Amino acid sequence: MAARAGEANYSAEDNLLGRIKLGNLSKKANSCSVLGAPNPLVFHYLWSGLSNIEHPASLYNDFSHPLNEIKMIKHHWVNGNLTPVGQAHLPVSDLAILRGFGIFDFFLVKEGFPIFFRDYLNRFFASADQLYLPIPFSRQEMHSAVLEVIRANGLQKGAIRLVMTGGVASDGFTPSSPNVMILAHEDHPLPGRYYQEGAALLPFEYQRDLPRVKTINYSMGIHLRRDLQRLDAFEALYHQGGKLSETFRSNIFAVLPGPILVTPGSHMLHGITRKRVLELAGSEMKVEVRDLYLDELQSAQECFITGSNKGVMPINRVGYQRIGTGHPGEVTRFFMKAFAELQRNDETFFG
Ligand SMILES: Cc1ncc(COP(=O)(O)O)c(C=O)c1O
Repeated sequence: MAARAGEANYSAEDNLLGRIKLGNLSKKANSCSVLGAPNPLVFHYLWSGLSNIEHPASLYNDFSHPLNEIKMIKHHWVNGNLTPVGQAHLPVSDLAILRGFGIFDFFLVKEGFPIFFRDYLNRFFASADQLYLPIPFSRQEMHSAVLEVIRANGLQKGAIRLVMTGGVASDGFTPSSPNVMILAHEDHPLPGRYYQEGAALLPFEYQRDLPRVKTINYSMGIHLRRDLQRLDAFEALYHQGGKLSETFRSNIFAVLPGPILVTPGSHMLHGITRKRVLELAGSEMKVEVRDLYLDELQSAQECFITGSNKGVMPINRVGYQRIGTGHPGEVTRFFMKAFAELQRNDETFFG
């Protein structure tokens, strides 16, 4: 009955905090600092002069920050040609612009080499297949083009983004010849405090369209930026009726009593980092890939998220619910270290 009363008063804020599922928990955030919202342009100039100062990463942790282009990225690759950054454009009637229709993928470059490259290339081609969009370049051509972009920018440490749009649509709806881009991004590390102390997540009831496809549509995640800031949360944790899928840019893992490592297996993107963590976990601990619920996090000893731009990141709070001791636990720290090691020793590019 209490839950029903809660539902009757269900508001956007309730959704954000997963309050229905976490109904009886403390309603008071214990470490909720409210950051002022900086104007992105002001922030950009501030940041250019003070590059060693930490910034509110929940809003600005994307590798596409314009400063990256200004500092060193000189060339992208567009439809087969290395192109100066300032001349890399899309036609205005491309479906990416009109309808947000397109795919992408994103991976790190370390010491001049793309990390876990084969996995990302495979996922890019799989995403295209699922949208019935043939990529007008072969795997070998895409492979060579990525190396060309890395070389042209002298990129030792950074990231590459593959993008393919639906192409120009004369009727504004039907895909035509896709536009394919390879964009280079400079390194943009996240603030160390997220790894030392853990980050917070904001539960939000939502299901991404076409969850197995890495589409370019992140509208909901971007829309939630003010709520994230208000609750000092790093990312939003999507769920449906309390069943977790993923965050808007990461996969989620919980360490439940046992210990058992649990991660959802459906309604989410099959992350490359998640795949590697599951491989690492195989020989170390009991693993369950199954439905995971928001209320199970009340008894979680640890929780972490995984993603290409962040590796393994500890989570210390979900909504108002503190996770475990509120500090990164032993299992999370194991995976942080083991995954970093795996990245360092990655030789899949050569294989
Ligand atoms: C929606 C979503 N889920 C999960 C992930 C994590 O995937 P990966 O580890 O391949 O970066 C991402 C990464 O961007 C994502 O956007």
